[in-house]
Amino acid sequence: MIEEPKINRNLALELLRVTEAGALAAAPLQGRGNKEAADARAVEAIRSALGSVDMKGTVVIGEGEKDQAPMLYFGEPIGNGLEPEVDVAVDPIEGTSLTASGLPGAISVVALAERGTMFTTHVHYMQKLVVGRRARGVIDLEMPVEWNLRRIAKAEGLPVQELTVVVLDRERNHEVIAQIRDVGARIKLITAGDVAAALEAALETRFGIHCMMGSGGATEGVLAACAIKTIGGDMQAKLNFRDDREKEMAVKEGHKPNKVLCLDDLCSGSDIFFAATGITSGELLKGVRYEDVYAYTQSMVLRSASGTMRIVDAYHPIDNLRAKGLLPEQVAVR
Ligand code: FBP
Repeated sequence: MIEEPKINRNLALELLRVTEAGALAAAPLQGRGNKEAADARAVEAIRSALGSVDMKGTVVIGEGEKDQAPMLYFGEPIGNGLEPEVDVAVDPIEGTSLTASGLPGAISVVALAERGTMFTTHVHYMQKLVVGRRARGVIDLEMPVEWNLRRIAKAEGLPVQELTVVVLDRERNHEVIAQIRDVGARIKLITAGDVAAALEAALETRFGIHCMMGSGGATEGVLAACAIKTIGGDMQAKLNFRDDREKEMAVKEGHKPNKVLCLDDLCSGSDIFFAATGITSGELLKGVRYEDVYAYTQSMVLRSASGTMRIVDAYHPIDNLRAKGLLPEQVAVR
């Protein structure tokens, strides 16, 4: 018998309106070289939209710490104060540099789960290992890159040379990149946006990515885990400290610094809601486009209780966006 979800409505459909607002607010600044201004607009729009959702939310991982922003900080209460009580993970622009440069793959993203179920930390980075459904249960972050790739290849029924691994192009990931190349697998390097990349790896058959490896943001790790618990696939992570101060902070937060975190450690909830909207067009989602009298958005909406993945195309009247301040008068779209 399927267990009744504790939260008996699909909050993700309300989140959809939230991430749409974030993407629509950021999009006018696409390619204009000002990531702070784009982020500020998205934060404001997301915060205002989240404020009207029927929930008693607490931001447990979000904007405040990473980008030193005054809004959507850790511990901030959000929502209209009604039940249910939920943890909120939010990144108004996941890929601020991509947005500022007009490059593919920026998204606006929010996840909710029952209160007290999301991993929370002020540590900046995590090592991550993400795979699709077929390779679920075969990975181990404690083991060498080669060991993992060979097991993933076996689970996928492919020679290891046919695997494509996505990695954030950072100096701290150079060792992992060298090890993947030694094994002979293909690499897709990305300059930013590892939530979308993690989802592409989890949905391997749709995107031709079999794995994501390397260190990226901790907030992004929790957001990705929330989605992967719904769409299937597997993920392991480990806090990645920049210095001793961060390690001490993790201990104070009650974490075991070297623990391998599995999906349930990153989010133990069973009622998880996730929404993401494309800002700039990427492989996962199309970005905001202005078409005659409408602005077009594409979003992914997930609910763990039903396992449903919705891809939602929406057309927003431009006049309404102008009235709501989501499209400034000085930005001409046609
Ligand atoms: P923001 O746009 O939210 O700043 O993050 C983009 C991002 O590329 C994430 O996808 C990734 O996890 C993280 O930054 C990596 O951090 P850094 O750029 O400091 O290496």
